[in-house]
Amino acid sequence: MISGELKEKLLKEILEAETPNEKAVDVMYELQKVYGWITDEAMSEASELLGMTLTELDELATFYNFLFREPVGKYVIHVCDSVVCWMNGYEVLLDHLKGRLGIGIGETTSDGLFTLLPVCCIGYCDRAPAMLINRRVHGNLTPEKIDTIIDQIRAKEQES
Ligand code: FES
Repeated sequence: MISGELKEKLLKEILEAETPNEKAVDVMYELQKVYGWITDEAMSEASELLGMTLTELDELATFYNFLFREPVGKYVIHVCDSVVCWMNGYEVLLDHLKGRLGIGIGETTSDGLFTLLPVCCIGYCDRAPAMLINRRVHGNLTPEKIDTIIDQIRAKEQES
């Protein structure tokens, strides 16, 4: 269950919007930050806050790339799967990521750290091939650069 403080903040934002629907994605995103993904409980809370049906919210949640209806790792890697990245080494990059993490697309590492997902063009074509990790862009990727990024994240996680 979300805190009273967060509930109050979200209700205020919903009331300030022209219609509750325009805040639906924002509300679900905030709930996802609390639960780690859009659990059924989060969905019910969003439904109650927004006055929208579970079906309406489920349609939105399954449409947006950054809302997750299933558990994901602490770090979600969205690999750009569009034409400019295809022309700039996407396949090598993806194979390297899969091998390095030991998972395929749509899977999460056994330590729960990384989930690998495809995404359409993320607007960084000038830095292709590119990917996002927790919505932060990484571009001009090479296998070496990917190793460095993964190593840095694992080191940070071991420290904490
Ligand atoms: S095609 Fe990959 S960032 Fe645009």
